[in-house]
Amino acid sequence: MTIGGNSLTARLLVLVVVTILHRVSLNSVSASCEFSIVDHNKLYNYSLASPSSKFPHGVLSEDGFYKVAGNGTVLWFQLCDGMIFNHDRPTCLDCTDCGGPSRCGMGCSALVTNSIGGYHVCRTVGFATSMSINLIDTRRPHMGVVVVMSNRSPMYNCSVSVSVLCDLVGVQGPQTLEKVGICGYATQLSHPSGCARIVSAHGNGWGWFGGIMTLYGFHF
Ligand SMILES: *[C@@H]1O[C@H](CO)[C@@H](O)[C@H](O)[C@H]1NC(C)=O
Ligand SMILES: *[C@@H]1O[C@H](CO)[C@@H](O)[C@H](O)[C@H]1NC(C)=O
Ligand SMILES: *[C@@H]1O[C@H](CO)[C@@H](O)[C@H](O)[C@H]1NC(C)=O
Repeated sequence: MTIGGNSLTARLLVLVVVTILHRVSLNSVSASCEFSIVDHNKLYNYSLASPSSKFPHGVLSEDGFYKVAGNGTVLWFQLCDGMIFNHDRPTCLDCTDCGGPSRCGMGCSALVTNSIGGYHVCRTVGFATSMSINLIDTRRPHMGVVVVMSNRSPMYNCSVSVSVLCDLVGVQGPQTLEKVGICGYATQLSHPSGCARIVSAHGNGWGWFGGIMTLYGFHF
């Protein structure tokens, strides 16, 4: 192979690596509840679980859970973690995949109870491990993010979407619960954690992107 061919191979390799880097690092969720996305030369960095002076637990409920009810259905959930109950523990039948009867609620991140024939029957609708984060509105990254959790089983597929609306000054817990399809639930809350840290492409702290630009500029 000629030197020219080698350098072509090298260029293609760089292109592939850069493409992979682009995909992975520009639209990613990590266990710490982080999500970042690039829009119009700006990096929007959401870090839902990061402490702030007013909110040492980030968006996580200090109680160990959030609770919201609608039409006789109750949803308990925590974001970015499992639920913990020191009070107001769910009591419902069939809690097997979320902690069992003695620790009901403590083995998952989202649980609903429905009153069926006078009994409260519960169903696990989300685990922290199933969590994904996306923008509420892809054209408006300032609006906030939606956290989706799910529980897929051969018997039923359940999910819950929690929109975290960006509100820099106030916090409002979930007020309304919506049912979507057979076992989907949706609710929303407002929290400063739903606001992005915005890094401009021309500013500091964006070294890796600068690096990519340099690579493109140099090789192509
Ligand atoms: C996003 O913010 C988090 C927490 O502040 C930080 O650890 C992470 O490096 C940031 N990501 C980028 C790409 O700036
Ligand atoms: C659950 O979803 C999977 C794919 O997402 C599908 O294959 C399966 O049939 C669904 N199960 C039920 C009970 O709807
Ligand atoms: C309650 O009823 C309203 C109106 O029918 C519906 O939009 C909503 O999804 C329902 N919520 C639940 C949790 O069933």
